[in-house]
Amino acid sequence: MQMRQMMKAIGFKKHLPIDEEESLIEFETFKPVAKGHDLLVKVKAVSVNPVDVGVRKSGHGTLREPKIIGWDAVGIVESVGENVSLFKKGELVFYAGSFKRSGSNSEYQLVDERIVGHAPQKLTTAQAAAMPLTSLTAWEALFEQLEINPNDKKNNNEKTILIINGAGGVGSIATQLASWAGLKVIASASRPETIEWVTKLGADKVVNHRLDLVHEVRKLGYEYVDYILELNDLDGHWNEMAELIKPSGKIASITENKRPVNLRKLTKKRATFAWEWMYTKSFYQTPDMITQHEILDKISSLLDQEIIKTTLNKAFTPINDLNLKEAHKIVESNHMIGKVVVSDE
Ligand SMILES: NC(=O)c1ccc[n+]([C@@H]2O[C@H](COP(=O)([O-])OP(=O)(O)OC[C@H]3O[C@@H](n4cnc5c(N)ncnc54)[C@H](OP(=O)(O)O)[C@@H]3O)[C@@H](O)[C@H]2O)c1
Repeated sequence: MQMRQMMKAIGFKKHLPIDEEESLIEFETFKPVAKGHDLLVKVKAVSVNPVDVGVRKSGHGTLREPKIIGWDAVGIVESVGENVSLFKKGELVFYAGSFKRSGSNSEYQLVDERIVGHAPQKLTTAQAAAMPLTSLTAWEALFEQLEINPNDKKNNNEKTILIINGAGGVGSIATQLASWAGLKVIASASRPETIEWVTKLGADKVVNHRLDLVHEVRKLGYEYVDYILELNDLDGHWNEMAELIKPSGKIASITENKRPVNLRKLTKKRATFAWEWMYTKSFYQTPDMITQHEILDKISSLLDQEIIKTTLNKAFTPINDLNLKEAHKIVESNHMIGKVVVSDE
């Protein structure tokens, strides 16, 4: 009988503050085997998202086995399952992965080929690792949930979108994609660094989300906006959005409310409100799950053509518990600009 191979991984058994030694620990576990639609990927670079912090922190007690988190990776396909048709061994891929499965903070990871893209050729692995989760979120929110057609530039030129939190991970790619689609982009940012960052990414106007957004937007000469993409604090911005949305306009949010959302505020305007959750397709194994493969391939091509650029802003090397802790600390601050990545090269 063949001995099962081992691999290194990083995870947690206790939900501890990041400064505590055991908040993230290195350990050894079995190297998984690819079956069905799965790719086994040798991970080269990962990014840290607010979801990593949320899952690490929430919960009580001690887990029996360490939990491996991490939702963003770039790596090389090491082997493929018997049903795989989109990729072959040796290819460089990037993906965000599934909420239900073991994460990317490990030497090797299994991922379903239908949610994986070919990594951009012209970027470093760190630059590419910044992109998958936030790009999928921004793409699905803009072009699926807000139903903006990215190819109808002429129509989009007439339309305005307010992106609340333009400089964070998702906002940094959403601003670029909305601008590429031809929309007039009003992005929110509250500090000189974030204002400069969103302007470089293509925002036409910048408003301050620490001030009254209704006043901020109206000061620019807009009574209403056609679309709103909410990327930080739905509760805090709900009333402003209800006031600013144009009659028949559309709002999408990626953040959870902590108190009931008063949808009644949208009734007279017959405005649409839609959620975006990047994991929905893989979580429920929806028939259109493969669209995440298509979106990532499209993002890869836009990056290689330099139509959009990486949102990488901070990088640590190599992948280990200490560097992942540093990355978690930055994301926890809620002042992230672009993305933070931990990579082996
Ligand atoms: N549903 C999904 O599929 C999905 C996917 C990805 C992320 N998310 C969630 O979406 C949120 C954003 O993710 P992210 O990765 O873009 O976050 P991030 O990079 O951590 O966002 C940091 C940015 O938030 C801005 N900010 C802080 N407070 C704000 C406020 N009250 N209003 C507006 N902006 C504020 C900060 O700007 P200033 O410093 O200039 O104030 C900072 O640049 C997180 O809650 C995350 O969990 C959901």
